[in-house]
Amino acid sequence: MAKDKIRFVCQSCAAAHAKWQGRCDACGEWNTLVEEAPAVRGPGPASKAGPGRRVEFVDLAGESAPPARMLTGIAELDRVLGGGFVESSAVLVGGDPGIGKSTILLQAAAHMAAAGHRTLYISGEEAVAQVRLRARRLGLEGAPLALASATALRDIVATLQAEKQAALVVIDSIQTMWLDTLDSAPGTVAQVRACAAELIRVAKSESFALVLVGHVTKEGTLAGPRVLEHMVDATLYFEGDRGHQFRILRATKNRFGATDEIGVFEMTEGGLVEVANPSALFLAERRGNISGSAVFAGVEGTRPVLVEVQALLSPSNGGSPRRSVVGWDSGRLSMLLAVLEARAGLNLGQNDVYLNIAGGLRIAEPAADLAVAAALVSAATDQPTDPDRVYFGEVGLSGEVRQVSQPEQRLREAQKLGFQAATLPRRIARGGRAAPQAEALRLDEIGHVADLVAPFAAKSVKPRS
Ligand code: TYD
Ligand code: MG
Repeated sequence: MAKDKIRFVCQSCAAAHAKWQGRCDACGEWNTLVEEAPAVRGPGPASKAGPGRRVEFVDLAGESAPPARMLTGIAELDRVLGGGFVESSAVLVGGDPGIGKSTILLQAAAHMAAAGHRTLYISGEEAVAQVRLRARRLGLEGAPLALASATALRDIVATLQAEKQAALVVIDSIQTMWLDTLDSAPGTVAQVRACAAELIRVAKSESFALVLVGHVTKEGTLAGPRVLEHMVDATLYFEGDRGHQFRILRATKNRFGATDEIGVFEMTEGGLVEVANPSALFLAERRGNISGSAVFAGVEGTRPVLVEVQALLSPSNGGSPRRSVVGWDSGRLSMLLAVLEARAGLNLGQNDVYLNIAGGLRIAEPAADLAVAAALVSAATDQPTDPDRVYFGEVGLSGEVRQVSQPEQRLREAQKLGFQAATLPRRIARGGRAAPQAEALRLDEIGHVADLVAPFAAKSVKPRS
């Protein structure tokens, strides 16, 4: 009976389709159709006897206690969470398989357990022996963590309801959980959503912090955690390149803290180690005196991060030139190339352009424009940038260099790391306040990209003919 009720719903526009197809007819989006199982619950609220109760309204002003927090003892994780886990909240930790989600959560859970919080770790992916092995590798086997291997959600819910003491519950992963009231297989959107809803409900009623691990795959073979994002209080993504040892934990949603906050970790033999000074790490392998490199003074969330931007130009052999970008937006690169060409007379059109953000960090800030432009100009003129200089500023279509947020913080970080100079947007005097705490840096405020190109000795810049 359930069979004929199953339908496929577009996750983008909510149009329903009788069968699966690659593209939604209604909105034209690709790969957005997912199976939605028929509702398993009984009659809806409308059919319950009697009218609803009255909802009470209150004033905006009033005393509400801040939510209770529990620190994990891993400072980078605590900061991304906005100050530790919050009671009765649900956090989704997403990321590619093998990136280190189980590792960091085992470390956090063991810390919490050692600090006296009742902590449960339920693995649906690994057997108890495997988790124990990992714990031993991480030197955490002594922590009073309650470990179980289970996937049947009915049992898990019953256990959590009987538990009463739990402060933190980790479910690794939500894709392995299944509810026997649904026909669909574990990992399908219907199962993932129903299991998550059930677990979140228990977390609220039993007042523990819930962590759901969710895998993301590019192919979408497993139901992605995307469907869960609106159900949870916070979403953290664990990013990084498996070829690099750096891992970045990024909050994309947080009802109890700031988003765009990042935590930086290094994957080592002994698990994930916090990186207290990411700038030093990202710049560690920088080599001076090479053209095509510039240091960007960026800000990720509340923390400044310095990274090296690398550009390489090579003459393109016919056809349309290649544009290859790692760690930045390729559309933004095309725009910048066009601006440099049209507004600063730099002719790069016949070159293949390769751009790389060193260290595996992904940068989304437009403030990186000026550093990227500096790396490109340096590569084009074959002259290194000043190795003691940082760059930041947004570049507009007319070549103007625009203000960006938190200049003082960027300058302070650059100074802390021993840089001597900065190229930045011309500052609009705000109440006559000069740059605080950055006097030691030589500041070159520029208003146009042409001012950036000028110091790279006009001799090597070929003006457009
Ligand atoms: P894991 O936490 O299992 O990833 P996920 O849960 O996101 O799938 O991490 C797996 C990888 O991490 C694996 O390739 C081995 C590596 N690793 C280390 O390098 N050091 C360690 O101490 C541990 C436990 C794992
Ligand atoms: Mg895992």
